[in-house]
Amino acid sequence: MGRSIYCVVTAAGSGTRLGNPGPKALVELAGECLLHHALRTLEPLEGLAGVVITAPRDYLETFTQVAQDASLSYPWKVVAGGSTRQNSVYLGLQGLLSFDRGARQVCANDPEAIVLIHDAARALTPLEQFQRVCRAVASGCPAVVPATELVDTVREVAGESFTRQEVAITPAGATPDRSRLRCVQTPQGFAGNVIFAAHQQGREETNTTGGALDDAMLVAHLGYPQYFVAGSRRAMKITYPLDLHLATWMAQNSNRE
Ligand code: CTP
Ligand code: MG
Repeated sequence: MGRSIYCVVTAAGSGTRLGNPGPKALVELAGECLLHHALRTLEPLEGLAGVVITAPRDYLETFTQVAQDASLSYPWKVVAGGSTRQNSVYLGLQGLLSFDRGARQVCANDPEAIVLIHDAARALTPLEQFQRVCRAVASGCPAVVPATELVDTVREVAGESFTRQEVAITPAGATPDRSRLRCVQTPQGFAGNVIFAAHQQGREETNTTGGALDDAMLVAHLGYPQYFVAGSRRAMKITYPLDLHLATWMAQNSNRE
């Protein structure tokens, strides 16, 4: 493929829903923390030229130690994340610019650079998923999102919830065509100039405390087409305690999904 790849690994969240003490990225999964798993997966990615990890402000040293202990052969750095994921990604992108002169030029101005944004919370994302996303960007797609088909039928909510007989009840509405819907994952991949412009604009529009749910949403505002590639169930986001149990099983077992 021959193109330089840069990656922001977002890990500055607190993991409220998981409920463990300390940041979610430091939670142990099969003997290593989530951040370690995410960083080690990137190791064989061909063309990887730099990784920025966003950390909670009070944990910069601990996160640096995790990256050091992972014996990574690619250049990396840890930066403080922000109060929202969007903020953290913005700060992570700024971190890419300060790698060195070459990286600055490549990322900010060069559409040839590929920038991946990946959640440490998706700690078991397979290498093949990173490679698929990179290949799709390299083929000319400016914004690429790995995605899976929905397992459940989804329905719209048609009105306010109310309580009857001590049960919370919500009026149900239309059933969207499931075959036209996807669940989105990371890493999301972008042409370098596109993701920098999208986050710059997102920051200006949301007055620095942005709440975009994912990075492709910001790119959509700029009018670029976006494309899906296959995601995988192993790339699930570890969110609740049950997810951690499932991930532990996956880490210790074969590639079966
Ligand atoms: N993230 C981040 N900065 C934030 C919030 C989230 O870098 N201010 C990162 C998380 O570390 C995670 C990814 O974004 O890798 C996806 O977020 P999520 O799974 O929601 O993690 P948390 O925000 O930590 O969890 P919760 O919402 O349960 O508190
Ligand atoms: Mg969150």
